[in-house]
Amino acid sequence: MLCTLMLSAPHPFSLILFGASGHLASIKLYPALYILALKKRLPENFAIVGYSRSDFDDTSFRKLVTDSVKEHMEAVNDKILEEFVSHFFYQQGTYDDLAAFQAMEKRIKELEKKWKDPVRLAYYSVPPGVYSSISEHLCESGIHSDALPVRTIVEKPVGGDLKSFESIKKKLLDSIGEENIYLLDHYLGKEAVRNVYYLRHANPILERLFKNTLISHVEITAAESSGLEGRAGYFDHTGTFRDMFQSHLLMIASLLTMRLIETDESFVHARADALKQFFLPPSSDLSDVALQAQYARGQVNGETVEGYLDEDDVSSDSRTNTYAALKLRSRTSRWDGVGFYLRSGKRMKLKETRISVAFQEPRKIGEGTTPNRLDVILQGEAGMRFHLQTKLGGEEPKFRPLLLSDPLVCFGDCLPEHGTLLLEAIHGKKQWFLTFEEVQLAWRLMDPIQTYFDQKSTPLPEYKAGSMGPDEADAWIGRDGISWFA
Ligand code: BG6
Repeated sequence: MLCTLMLSAPHPFSLILFGASGHLASIKLYPALYILALKKRLPENFAIVGYSRSDFDDTSFRKLVTDSVKEHMEAVNDKILEEFVSHFFYQQGTYDDLAAFQAMEKRIKELEKKWKDPVRLAYYSVPPGVYSSISEHLCESGIHSDALPVRTIVEKPVGGDLKSFESIKKKLLDSIGEENIYLLDHYLGKEAVRNVYYLRHANPILERLFKNTLISHVEITAAESSGLEGRAGYFDHTGTFRDMFQSHLLMIASLLTMRLIETDESFVHARADALKQFFLPPSSDLSDVALQAQYARGQVNGETVEGYLDEDDVSSDSRTNTYAALKLRSRTSRWDGVGFYLRSGKRMKLKETRISVAFQEPRKIGEGTTPNRLDVILQGEAGMRFHLQTKLGGEEPKFRPLLLSDPLVCFGDCLPEHGTLLLEAIHGKKQWFLTFEEVQLAWRLMDPIQTYFDQKSTPLPEYKAGSMGPDEADAWIGRDGISWFA
């Protein structure tokens, strides 16, 4: 079943936020929750209990939330914000401190005392290393029980490779249970990303164009202009490849290629099936030269502005990639033979997430004909552009570009991605959360490349901040006779 939007939280709820003083909470979660309050999508009774090691009490925590909202929103309604933060509470503790969990349990019980059918949730905005400890303590303290299960939201990436993922998965399943786990990739909360699937559904002509007899290749780019913004602790052992490809880019590719489902079919199964079809183009030659033909990567240098090695808390000899590119193929008959070129990088020329579907060369009937292309720009200057061509006046058939475009602005019920996903978790709707199967498939695909990247001998070309990545990545795609768009 496809979920309908315009959701509001149906029941009173309490949400425990682990990592309450962290970066994600400040820049994304508090502003998203505030927007839900502003749009009257939260119930009268709800409580958000921040948990972290930092030294706060309710008052100073509410100030942190107020400041975060003000910093990340263009305008705020002070009255609504004041009422909103009165629902926030704080519990200090480490993630293995049972006494702190027990104190939190008492507090939550007290808050929920007069509520009817409350829903409990926990959001793990913390490194995967502490997931098990948190899950066990949620059980031991009685916060999570069969009678009142905690819907547990876990941020991507789940683990750092297939092995660590399997171990986290086991611990989560043993303590919390699969039905209560919501694996969150915030790209799946973005309207523009969901639209990749719906555009195909609503436009049968597009769906007919999307096949290997017409398409030459597909480019999926997620360019970021920003750097680490204080997240070296997470990023330096993760890198762009794990951070952006394992979930965000593969999910976009899956939504583009998954079969359109009938109402009684499972959406998430169809999405996982599409992911299952992707493979790295086979190469019988496993030499470094051959491997370099499949993937490219790079690190932003400090030639003109602050480079990666100048970022706070990054060691001067770090070999973490801040750029990566990858070529995939799909086994489905519809996409057979079409190359999918994925790339992402930090500190690039612009912030833009884009799918470009390149069609095959037209027959040469005159000057100026170039292949048709459909760009779906999901972020940045969002829009959809169909590149066609039209004849110039004159006897000779000469052509000029013709661009059909629309800004693809979200109309209707547009919420920030974390707000949408939180509301869906409160409703128990899982369609736009990842499944364990999808995460497992993604790690399977990524692991061999990551292993190659981890070798000291693997080249790590530099690129200039403000560019579109290393020259080597241009040469890499050039070997297939194509180039990146823009
Ligand atoms: C996160 C990554 O998942 O996505 C970040 O951890 C990245 O490194 C971010 O910057 C990009 O998200 P968005 O929504 O800004 O494209």
